[in-house]
Amino acid sequence: MNLSQALQQAKAQGLDQLEAQTLLLHAVGQDPHDRAWLLLHDTESLDAEQLRHFMHLVQRRLQHEPLAYLTGWQDFHGLRLQVDERVLVPRPDTETLVDWALELGPLAASVLDLGTGSGAIALALKHARPDWLLSAVDASADALQVAQANAQRLGLAVKFLHGDWLSGVQGCFDVIVSNPPYIAEEDPHLAALTAEPSQALVSGADGLHDIRAIAAQAPAHLVPGGWLLLEHGFDQALAVQALLVQAGFAQVQSRKDLAGIQRCTGGQWPEVK
Ligand SMILES: C[S@@+](CC[C@H](N)C(=O)[O-])C[C@H]1O[C@@H](n2cnc3c(N)ncnc32)[C@H](O)[C@@H]1O
Repeated sequence: MNLSQALQQAKAQGLDQLEAQTLLLHAVGQDPHDRAWLLLHDTESLDAEQLRHFMHLVQRRLQHEPLAYLTGWQDFHGLRLQVDERVLVPRPDTETLVDWALELGPLAASVLDLGTGSGAIALALKHARPDWLLSAVDASADALQVAQANAQRLGLAVKFLHGDWLSGVQGCFDVIVSNPPYIAEEDPHLAALTAEPSQALVSGADGLHDIRAIAAQAPAHLVPGGWLLLEHGFDQALAVQALLVQAGFAQVQSRKDLAGIQRCTGGQWPEVK
């Protein structure tokens, strides 16, 4: 079977064309983004092992395994990150949080990423601002292994800490960023997310359990004038704004993601309290 016929077969089974191309490129050992290569080689034959591998990937994708777990890679804010079942697949929406932090941080800022997962936010910030001091926390030792491997491969210095939000963190930061779990336990959307770690997704009965904890703990670790920036669910902006106001933050405001949804909320710890 040649490459073109393999693609047709995957499409006939219901797979989207772009995803089929990505998986085929991965199965034959090419860069998964190099669609031009496929056009140039579409009459070449797959060997038996490549065909078996491709068809296995197609079946896994049809059973809703994230594409990034199948290829092992996800692009995020200009970085290529290695990902697997131990971490959430970084989403393009989270780039909004990175861009906001980049606008806020002063020269040589110290920044803390809470719930770093694959390291996406911390590594994107360190890549964009090499002079910033980055620390990152996760409660999952497995996730930290993935983040540390990404940091090492990309040559980006981030201090990783294993712990429960800010409980083991020392000192104060200019900016604290977090994309914490924010889905309610009974949310029907969870049915489509079973491949990713539930520790990365689920946050109590109303989805706000972890955001409440972070909003309560962050003030003790922000310099006066420092910012806390949080990603949250599509319908949580008002609730998160209220939590930040209640915790004593000023300048509380929300930002829209690429789809125009209020996806991040932040506030500034006042200079004088
Ligand atoms: C939604 S994922 C975000 C991952 C990554 N920051 C990103 O944006 O792709 C949330 C992360 O928070 C971590 N986490 C959950 N509960 C935690 C806790 N109590 N303390 C620290 N990290 C926690 C999870 O292990 C997971 O890696």
